[in-house]
Amino acid sequence: MKKILPMNHGLRGEIEIPGDKSISHRAIMLSSLGSSTVEIENFLSGADCLSTVECMKKLGAKIEMSGEKIFVTGNGLHGLKEPENILDAGNSGTTLRLLLGLTAPQNFLTTFTGDDSLRQRPMARVIKPLSEMGAKIVGRNENKNLPITVLKPEKKLRGITYKMPVASAQVKSAIILAGLFADGETEIIESAPSRDHTEKMLTAFGAKIEKSGDAIKIFPAENLTAPKKIIVPGDISSAAYWIVLASILPDSEVTIKNVGVNQTRTGIIDILRRMGARIEFLNEKISGGESSADLKIFSAKLRGVEFGGEFIPRLIDEIPALAVAAAFAEGETIIHDVGELKVKETDRLAAIVQEFNKISAGSFESTEDSLIIHGGEEKKFADCKTFSDHRMAMSLAIFGAAADGVKIDNSDCVKISYPNFFELFK
Ligand code: S3P
Repeated sequence: MKKILPMNHGLRGEIEIPGDKSISHRAIMLSSLGSSTVEIENFLSGADCLSTVECMKKLGAKIEMSGEKIFVTGNGLHGLKEPENILDAGNSGTTLRLLLGLTAPQNFLTTFTGDDSLRQRPMARVIKPLSEMGAKIVGRNENKNLPITVLKPEKKLRGITYKMPVASAQVKSAIILAGLFADGETEIIESAPSRDHTEKMLTAFGAKIEKSGDAIKIFPAENLTAPKKIIVPGDISSAAYWIVLASILPDSEVTIKNVGVNQTRTGIIDILRRMGARIEFLNEKISGGESSADLKIFSAKLRGVEFGGEFIPRLIDEIPALAVAAAFAEGETIIHDVGELKVKETDRLAAIVQEFNKISAGSFESTEDSLIIHGGEEKKFADCKTFSDHRMAMSLAIFGAAADGVKIDNSDCVKISYPNFFELFK
């Protein structure tokens, strides 16, 4: 439980944010497939990435954490070993879906489970393409929910061409990882571009992967050449809370150091700028194919916008924070094509409408796959539920701070992606 008081001043100063969650997962997994030691700098020690660490250890990788540093040594691309027990992905969809892709081609059996939330989430979307490749995967029921067992395939997986029905970086990455072990090339056609961290990092590990238009081709590999060091940029999804709060609180000027600004992730900045936000990029650089920059944000007068389609995968995790910005904007914001929000850590579409309306009555409405926000309504103190969803918790916290305060139930869930969120907030 946490009570957030209203802030009667702007947000000012310079802050650092934790490492990117998506990149941290991939850094652990790919380093575990190399055959030399990799140091991962600015690794996110959030619960989700620690689930990946535990799973990879059980699959045979050597992973040592000493203070802020983490060192990973793999046994080579073909060196994973059969886990002695069930792998627990906790709350982490990325851990589970990517590891389904990685274990599908292995000559051993792996069983996965996860927490109450993950056991409800759809896995057929990744089991389907992996099965087309020849993987043998069984789930608990016809929806293929957890627990899931990946059996030894009868023979080498085959390369396929797969047209993705939903834009999902997790599904895409699972197919790419399985494709490394297939008998020929695998082609994935994306319905809309989703985050491309797997593609970028695999290229840095020497794998052959080609992108042309909406198609991605992955070629089987003999081995991967791990770099000595991977530097993880700050997570733009974590920066989003401060970007929004600084934009809506008058008299704010905040610099967020070293934010990952890979353009498959910067939809939040594009949309906030369209709403009138003042966000500057400073000190841009590129490391391991990933761009980062310091972001400087000033308070601004925001106005409502309408968007959807290809923007959605570029800001899917930032929609709860963006909804807070929209509540302070002038006019209406309509976000189309957000059906995927229903299958996140909780049904975020329902959660936003139910809980955010407690702070700003009547401002939030949803249809089957869109979210409509009426800005400018009166805000009041409220007692809100997070549904143990880290992004709901942090979005409610900034909403309350910019409104008239909020009490949130399970605030602990921020440990999934941002363990020191409340300390920094204070
Ligand atoms: C992620 C992909 C997205 C995102 C999730 C992290 C990743 O999920 O919502 O938080 O690291 O690949 P989908 O692939 O389900 O869109």
